[in-house]
Amino acid sequence: MTKLTPTIAIDGPAASGKGTLARRLAEYFRFHHLDTGLTYRGVAHALIEANMPLDNEDMACLVAEKLDLGSLNKDILSAHEIGDAASKVAVMSRVRETLVEAQRKFANKEPGAVLDGRDIGTVVCPQAEIKLYITASPEKRAERRYREVGEKGSGAEYSQILADIIKRDERDMGRADSPLKPAENAHLIDTSEMSIETAFSTALALVEEALSE
Ligand code: C5P
Repeated sequence: MTKLTPTIAIDGPAASGKGTLARRLAEYFRFHHLDTGLTYRGVAHALIEANMPLDNEDMACLVAEKLDLGSLNKDILSAHEIGDAASKVAVMSRVRETLVEAQRKFANKEPGAVLDGRDIGTVVCPQAEIKLYITASPEKRAERRYREVGEKGSGAEYSQILADIIKRDERDMGRADSPLKPAENAHLIDTSEMSIETAFSTALALVEEALSE
Protein backbone atom coordinates (compact mmCIF):
# COMPACT_ATOMS: atom_id res chain seq x y z
CA MET A 1 0.00 0.00 0.00
CA THR A 2 1.57 3.30 -1.01
CA LYS A 3 -1.08 5.96 -0.22
CA LEU A 4 -0.83 8.06 2.95
CA THR A 5 -3.95 8.21 5.16
CA PRO A 6 -6.26 6.76 2.50
CA THR A 7 -10.04 7.03 2.63
CA ILE A 8 -12.36 4.26 1.51
CA ALA A 9 -15.79 5.72 0.70
CA ILE A 10 -18.76 3.35 0.68
CA ASP A 11 -22.28 4.42 -0.22
CA GLY A 12 -25.53 2.66 -0.88
CA PRO A 13 -29.17 2.33 0.15
CA ALA A 14 -30.48 0.86 3.42
CA ALA A 15 -29.64 -2.82 4.01
CA SER A 16 -27.47 -3.11 0.89
CA GLY A 17 -24.67 -4.73 2.89
CA LYS A 18 -22.46 -1.64 2.86
CA GLY A 19 -22.11 -1.57 6.66
CA THR A 20 -20.81 -5.14 6.86
CA LEU A 21 -18.39 -4.51 4.00
CA ALA A 22 -17.17 -1.27 5.56
CA ARG A 23 -16.56 -2.94 8.91
CA ARG A 24 -14.73 -5.88 7.36
CA LEU A 25 -12.57 -3.68 5.14
CA ALA A 26 -11.66 -1.53 8.15
CA GLU A 27 -10.70 -4.65 10.12
CA TYR A 28 -8.65 -5.98 7.21
CA PHE A 29 -6.65 -2.77 6.71
CA ARG A 30 -6.72 -1.82 10.43
CA PHE A 31 -8.34 1.48 9.51
CA HIS A 32 -10.85 3.50 11.53
CA HIS A 33 -14.48 2.96 10.58
CA LEU A 34 -17.37 5.40 10.78
CA ASP A 35 -20.93 4.35 10.00
CA THR A 36 -22.17 7.86 9.18
CA GLY A 37 -25.80 6.67 9.34
CA LEU A 38 -25.30 6.46 13.10
CA THR A 39 -24.62 10.20 13.24
CA TYR A 40 -28.03 10.98 11.67
CA ARG A 41 -29.59 8.29 13.84
CA GLY A 42 -27.94 9.83 16.93
CA VAL A 43 -29.52 13.21 16.21
CA ALA A 44 -32.95 11.65 15.51
CA HIS A 45 -32.79 9.57 18.68
CA ALA A 46 -31.89 12.57 20.86
CA LEU A 47 -34.81 14.57 19.41
CA ILE A 48 -37.22 11.69 20.02
CA GLU A 49 -35.96 11.29 23.61
CA ALA A 50 -36.47 15.03 24.19
CA ASN A 51 -39.98 14.86 22.72
CA MET A 52 -38.99 17.33 20.01
CA PRO A 53 -40.38 17.25 16.47
CA LEU A 54 -37.96 15.80 13.91
CA ASP A 55 -38.21 18.84 11.64
CA ASN A 56 -37.01 21.42 14.19
CA GLU A 57 -33.81 22.40 12.41
CA ASP A 58 -32.45 24.72 15.13
CA MET A 59 -32.79 22.05 17.78
CA ALA A 60 -31.44 19.34 15.47
CA CYS A 61 -28.38 21.51 14.75
CA LEU A 62 -27.70 21.99 18.45
CA VAL A 63 -27.86 18.24 18.96
CA ALA A 64 -25.63 17.65 15.91
CA GLU A 65 -23.01 20.11 17.20
CA LYS A 66 -22.84 18.31 20.53
CA LEU A 67 -22.78 14.79 19.07
CA ASP A 68 -19.79 12.72 20.19
CA LEU A 69 -18.87 10.31 17.38
CA GLY A 70 -17.15 8.07 19.90
CA SER A 71 -20.24 7.42 21.98
CA LEU A 72 -22.83 6.46 19.37
CA ASN A 73 -24.54 3.33 20.69
CA LYS A 74 -25.21 1.03 17.73
CA ASP A 75 -27.47 -1.29 19.74
CA ILE A 76 -29.86 1.52 20.64
CA LEU A 77 -29.58 3.40 17.35
CA SER A 78 -30.01 0.47 14.99
CA ALA A 79 -33.78 0.18 15.65
CA HIS A 80 -35.76 0.19 12.40
CA GLU A 81 -37.91 3.23 13.40
CA ILE A 82 -34.82 5.29 14.20
CA GLY A 83 -33.58 4.73 10.64
CA ASP A 84 -36.80 6.20 9.34
CA ALA A 85 -36.57 9.16 11.75
CA ALA A 86 -32.91 9.68 10.75
CA SER A 87 -33.88 10.03 7.09
CA LYS A 88 -36.27 12.84 8.08
CA VAL A 89 -33.55 14.63 10.03
CA ALA A 90 -31.15 14.09 7.10
CA VAL A 91 -33.09 16.33 4.72
CA MET A 92 -32.11 19.46 6.72
CA SER A 93 -29.06 21.17 5.18
CA ARG A 94 -27.70 22.81 8.31
CA VAL A 95 -27.79 19.51 10.18
CA ARG A 96 -25.94 17.89 7.28
CA GLU A 97 -23.28 20.63 7.25
CA THR A 98 -22.57 20.10 10.94
CA LEU A 99 -22.38 16.31 10.69
CA VAL A 100 -20.34 16.39 7.45
CA GLU A 101 -17.73 18.58 9.14
CA ALA A 102 -17.30 16.01 11.93
CA GLN A 103 -17.24 13.15 9.39
CA ARG A 104 -14.49 14.85 7.36
CA LYS A 105 -12.35 15.21 10.46
CA PHE A 106 -12.81 11.52 11.13
CA ALA A 107 -11.79 10.69 7.55
CA ASN A 108 -8.36 12.24 8.16
CA LYS A 109 -7.47 9.87 11.00
CA GLU A 110 -4.21 7.97 10.63
CA PRO A 111 -3.50 5.43 9.25
CA GLY A 112 -6.70 5.57 7.15
CA ALA A 113 -10.48 5.46 7.40
CA VAL A 114 -13.49 3.70 5.97
CA LEU A 115 -16.70 5.74 5.97
CA ASP A 116 -20.04 4.38 4.87
CA GLY A 117 -23.24 6.29 4.22
CA ARG A 118 -25.20 7.91 1.41
CA ASP A 119 -23.00 10.86 0.33
CA ILE A 120 -19.46 9.84 1.23
CA GLY A 121 -18.12 9.61 -2.32
CA THR A 122 -20.14 12.57 -3.59
CA VAL A 123 -19.98 15.12 -0.74
CA VAL A 124 -18.10 14.10 2.41
CA CYS A 125 -14.93 12.70 0.82
CA PRO A 126 -14.97 13.45 -2.92
CA GLN A 127 -11.17 12.94 -2.93
CA ALA A 128 -11.39 9.41 -1.52
CA GLU A 129 -8.85 7.02 -3.06
CA ILE A 130 -11.56 4.45 -3.68
CA LYS A 131 -15.34 4.73 -3.86
CA LEU A 132 -17.73 1.80 -3.77
CA TYR A 133 -21.47 1.97 -4.34
CA ILE A 134 -23.15 -1.09 -2.86
CA THR A 135 -26.66 -1.93 -3.95
CA ALA A 136 -29.19 -4.79 -4.04
CA SER A 137 -32.81 -5.11 -5.09
CA PRO A 138 -35.36 -3.71 -2.60
CA GLU A 139 -36.75 -7.25 -2.15
CA LYS A 140 -33.34 -8.72 -1.23
CA ARG A 141 -32.65 -5.85 1.13
CA ALA A 142 -36.05 -6.26 2.81
CA GLU A 143 -35.40 -10.00 3.13
CA ARG A 144 -32.06 -9.36 4.89
CA ARG A 145 -33.55 -6.74 7.20
CA TYR A 146 -36.50 -9.06 7.94
CA ARG A 147 -34.12 -11.83 9.01
CA GLU A 148 -32.06 -9.39 11.07
CA VAL A 149 -35.00 -7.93 13.00
CA GLY A 150 -36.55 -11.42 13.32
CA GLU A 151 -33.41 -12.61 15.10
CA LYS A 152 -33.85 -9.79 17.61
CA GLY A 153 -37.35 -11.04 18.33
CA SER A 154 -39.23 -8.20 16.64
CA GLY A 155 -42.54 -9.17 15.04
CA ALA A 156 -42.13 -6.88 12.02
CA GLU A 157 -43.83 -8.03 8.80
CA TYR A 158 -41.80 -8.55 5.62
CA SER A 159 -44.28 -6.48 3.59
CA GLN A 160 -43.99 -3.57 6.02
CA ILE A 161 -40.19 -3.70 5.94
CA LEU A 162 -40.21 -3.74 2.12
CA ALA A 163 -42.60 -0.75 2.05
CA ASP A 164 -40.36 1.13 4.51
CA ILE A 165 -37.24 0.40 2.47
CA ILE A 166 -38.89 1.68 -0.71
CA LYS A 167 -40.11 4.82 1.10
CA ARG A 168 -36.65 5.45 2.60
CA ASP A 169 -34.98 5.00 -0.83
CA GLU A 170 -37.36 7.60 -2.27
CA ARG A 171 -36.63 10.05 0.54
CA ASP A 172 -32.85 9.52 0.38
CA MET A 173 -32.62 9.61 -3.43
CA GLY A 174 -35.15 12.39 -3.88
CA ARG A 175 -33.95 14.99 -1.37
CA ALA A 176 -32.47 18.25 -2.65
CA ASP A 177 -29.31 18.24 -0.50
CA SER A 178 -26.81 15.39 -1.04
CA PRO A 179 -29.22 12.83 -2.53
CA LEU A 180 -28.12 9.20 -2.55
CA LYS A 181 -26.46 8.42 -5.89
CA PRO A 182 -23.23 6.79 -7.01
CA ALA A 183 -20.26 9.15 -7.39
CA GLU A 184 -19.14 9.36 -11.02
CA ASN A 185 -16.00 7.36 -10.31
CA ALA A 186 -17.59 4.85 -7.92
CA HIS A 187 -17.37 1.09 -8.52
CA LEU A 188 -20.83 -0.44 -8.44
CA ILE A 189 -21.34 -3.74 -6.64
CA ASP A 190 -24.79 -5.34 -6.78
CA THR A 191 -24.95 -7.78 -3.87
CA SER A 192 -28.45 -9.15 -4.70
CA GLU A 193 -27.10 -12.55 -5.72
CA MET A 194 -23.84 -12.50 -3.75
CA SER A 195 -22.88 -14.11 -0.47
CA ILE A 196 -21.19 -11.83 2.05
CA GLU A 197 -17.88 -13.57 1.30
CA THR A 198 -18.17 -12.93 -2.46
CA ALA A 199 -19.16 -9.31 -1.87
CA PHE A 200 -16.19 -8.89 0.47
CA SER A 201 -13.65 -10.42 -1.90
CA THR A 202 -15.02 -8.31 -4.79
CA ALA A 203 -14.74 -5.13 -2.71
CA LEU A 204 -11.32 -6.07 -1.34
CA ALA A 205 -9.87 -6.65 -4.81
CA LEU A 206 -11.06 -3.20 -5.94
CA VAL A 207 -9.71 -1.48 -2.82
CA GLU A 208 -6.34 -3.24 -2.98
CA GLU A 209 -5.92 -2.29 -6.61
CA ALA A 210 -6.79 1.38 -5.94
CA LEU A 211 -4.53 1.67 -2.90
CA SER A 212 -1.54 0.18 -4.66
CA GLU A 213 -1.67 2.55 -7.65
O1 C5P B 1 -27.39 3.94 6.91
P1 C5P B 1 -28.52 4.16 7.87
O2 C5P B 1 -29.73 3.35 7.55
O3 C5P B 1 -28.09 4.01 9.28
O4 C5P B 1 -28.91 5.70 7.69
C1 C5P B 1 -30.06 6.27 8.29
C2 C5P B 1 -30.49 7.48 7.47
O5 C5P B 1 -29.52 8.52 7.65
C3 C5P B 1 -30.53 7.25 5.96
O6 C5P B 1 -31.77 6.74 5.52
C4 C5P B 1 -30.25 8.65 5.41
O7 C5P B 1 -31.42 9.41 5.31
C5 C5P B 1 -29.37 9.27 6.46
N1 C5P B 1 -27.97 9.30 6.05
C6 C5P B 1 -27.57 10.33 5.22
N2 C5P B 1 -26.27 10.45 4.86
C7 C5P B 1 -25.36 9.57 5.30
C8 C5P B 1 -25.74 8.49 6.12
C9 C5P B 1 -27.08 8.37 6.47
O8 C5P B 1 -28.39 11.14 4.79
N3 C5P B 1 -24.07 9.74 4.95
